[in-house]
Amino acid sequence: MRSLSVPVLAFLLVLLFGVVAPASGSPHNPSPGAMKRKGGDGGGGDDGGNGGDGGDGGGDSGDGGNGIPTVDGAKNPACIPWYAIRDAIMGGIYHGRCGDPARAAVRLAFHDAGTFSLALEAAGLPNGGADGSMLVDPNEVLRAENNGLQNIVSLLQPLPVQFNVTPGDVLHLAGVLGVLACPGGPVINTYIGRKAPTNIAPDGLLPNTNSPVPVLTDRFADMGFSIRELMALIGAHTAGKQRFVNLALAPSSFDSTVDIWDVRFYSETQSSSLVAGTFRLPSDVNFSHNATTQKDYNRFVGKQDDWGREYADAHEKMSLLGVDQTTLTDCTEILPLSIDLKDLAVSSSDSDSGKQPTDPVIDPVKLEAAIQKYRSIWL
Ligand code: HEM
Repeated sequence: MRSLSVPVLAFLLVLLFGVVAPASGSPHNPSPGAMKRKGGDGGGGDDGGNGGDGGDGGGDSGDGGNGIPTVDGAKNPACIPWYAIRDAIMGGIYHGRCGDPARAAVRLAFHDAGTFSLALEAAGLPNGGADGSMLVDPNEVLRAENNGLQNIVSLLQPLPVQFNVTPGDVLHLAGVLGVLACPGGPVINTYIGRKAPTNIAPDGLLPNTNSPVPVLTDRFADMGFSIRELMALIGAHTAGKQRFVNLALAPSSFDSTVDIWDVRFYSETQSSSLVAGTFRLPSDVNFSHNATTQKDYNRFVGKQDDWGREYADAHEKMSLLGVDQTTLTDCTEILPLSIDLKDLAVSSSDSDSGKQPTDPVIDPVKLEAAIQKYRSIWL
């Protein structure tokens, strides 16, 4: 993990020498440094449609040049309260950064939604899904599979009452903002209007890292995800750490760049040698080599843009599992722009070979400058 002094030093350098990586992108022309949601290409799934009606992407209006839309520029009146909820999460909990609360919120979104089962739905039995039950029933977060999520749950728990909204909407906004708190994380279309949860999620439906690949792919199929979507979703481990799989090595990150949302996770997990200081989940290693998953896994090795697009589509679908979508409102307008890693890389002329590396090295000074600019109000 980086020490606190590095970002501070980086920011001072920026102030002293004017080393500002992302040029001042207007909200309508955000590049370089930040980017809007480009809209899905359907690549997120072979066998399932996206929920909702799509969205325009974050950061469209009234943002004062930092890519953060303000309530003054709100387009849909139903989204107005959500600007303050966004700030309570992104500022009050994440402090604008890809830290432990942000990464926990991404996992929480999965552990809430990933209890959905098409089989239970068909049988008319109590189901899981993206309903926010993790914030409501104290017994659910105490399950062993949810170890490590207790802190983010207690941080988010007051918000539904404070803002008079449902736990599911808060929890899944927190997941989307957790991705965006990580530089490189894409804008994910975001909806509000979920109903209050009716039951605790059924137990035993979340995947176990020691299960064989067919068990895992079957379980995701029962959620409604194709293998391609699953391979996009597990890329969320790019910003993840383990604390409970191997206690002796805890905490250890799943790739060498845990503070950014990049595709380095895919290449490092597949590599024949372990990158020092990182930890590989057995399931991720298996996905990277297994005959049924490897082709889709390989789509994302070194392919940041493809992954960003397909991850956003799959995460959007995850955030709507089991949700009645007829009454939802698209509030993607509240989201900040994504911080684009392209302009933050060490220039290729600095590298030995001069050829484009699979995983570009991110310049810490440019990275910190982008965070200071595009996440300014929450730091
Ligand atoms: C086969 C599917 C999956 C398995 C077996 C799995 C398993 C795990 C395990 C064992 C951990 C470490 C927990 C700990 O020891 O602290 C973890 C962390 C994490 N997982 Fe997954 N996971 C899967 C899919 C997903 C998906 C679909 C997402 C989100 C879209 C996700 C997001 C995360 C995140 C962000 C972390 C890091 C949490 C933190 O650092 O606090 N995982 N996962």
